[in-house]
Amino acid sequence: MLLLRGASEVVTPPETSIPLSGEAMGLVERHSNSDVLIEGNKIVAVGKKLECEADEIIDVKGKVIVPGFVDPHTHLVWAGSREHELEWKLQGRTYQEILASGGGILRTVKETRNSDVEKLQQQSLYRFKNAIKAGTTTLEIKSGYGLELETELKQLKVANWLGSLGLAETVVTFMGAHALPEGKDRREYISDVISMISEVKDLAVFCDVFCEEGAFTEEESRKILHEALKQGLGLKIHADEFGDTGGGRLAAELGVVSADHLAGSTIDTIIELREAGTIGVLLPGTPFAILSDHFAPARKMIANKLPLALATDCNPNCYTESMQLVQQLAVFRMKMTPAEALIASTVNSAFAIGKTDRGCIAEGWRADLLICDVPDYRHLTYHFGKNHVESVIIGGKVIDA
Ligand code: NIG
Ligand code: FE
Repeated sequence: MLLLRGASEVVTPPETSIPLSGEAMGLVERHSNSDVLIEGNKIVAVGKKLECEADEIIDVKGKVIVPGFVDPHTHLVWAGSREHELEWKLQGRTYQEILASGGGILRTVKETRNSDVEKLQQQSLYRFKNAIKAGTTTLEIKSGYGLELETELKQLKVANWLGSLGLAETVVTFMGAHALPEGKDRREYISDVISMISEVKDLAVFCDVFCEEGAFTEEESRKILHEALKQGLGLKIHADEFGDTGGGRLAAELGVVSADHLAGSTIDTIIELREAGTIGVLLPGTPFAILSDHFAPARKMIANKLPLALATDCNPNCYTESMQLVQQLAVFRMKMTPAEALIASTVNSAFAIGKTDRGCIAEGWRADLLICDVPDYRHLTYHFGKNHVESVIIGGKVIDA
């Protein structure tokens, strides 16, 4: 048993078996002067001055405890880097222009194909540890920098390997339809992706598709996702990043677990997604990284009761591992409240990757917790640019990442 003794506050979403939406997305519970008792990998009690014989006691006086952050959308396993593209973006080149001229995703595909496994592991582990130090205790990782079977498998294996290290848990997604590889005919590549699914399905739990102009059409995405569903994978879509171009509507039609980006979604699409039971995963780091002011309409989404989650999108275009930064961007650029940002980064983001056992601090929930050096949980967003996480507890163990 591990006892966290005397936190100034323990802040948690209310216990829930469905993602929180509307007003409920903005109401956290705040237990002042409280302890948290952990047995094995579970929380067994939360309360004032708990009586118990713990094997280990951590004094958390003056600290705030929140659930570990769940990052439900990353491309964390890649080789190389693209710092030169930031200069291109500053000169006015758009994300899609850079991709169309063989840069962007296609540049990273070349570097990832050419990297040996050890190098890919090393680069990925560095980012993985950065994520944990910033408070991420579970994260999703997509493939999609191989665009051919061998390298897709290499990425998926590294993503699973990270999850096997006893640090944070990983949830792995196959994203063969991330971009059309250079020199490939569209129809031929769609059929390649469809035939890859049976080869990768034991290494992934979700399949994702980049459904956007310059990437894959609605019809191509539908074909791939139908096959993935047949093979037992859960579904996700990168949708409406730049405009309402069909991805969001397809997400609703297929009832996917999450539709991600949604910066361009119209109100009709938002309502269709809500009716389909889909979670909107917002990635405010992405417009930030492409120097755009086009953030997802979070307030409209919350007013229309679409449950929202937040994620980093960690990738070589939007290079951050920090869910704290993402919550800060959500507050400052999308006008989410600190409570909404916290709920969207914990229990709701856990639902967005199919996890129902984490994201709340209450009896029976997984003991993934952060001890934060802040006077009040709202400082997690109010005081931006500093890592507030002092200790990370994952599955009941203090993790030294
Ligand atoms: O979610 N939009 C597509 N994929 C990633 C970017 C990947 C990259 O640029 O390398 C995204 O933004
Ligand atoms: Fe992405």
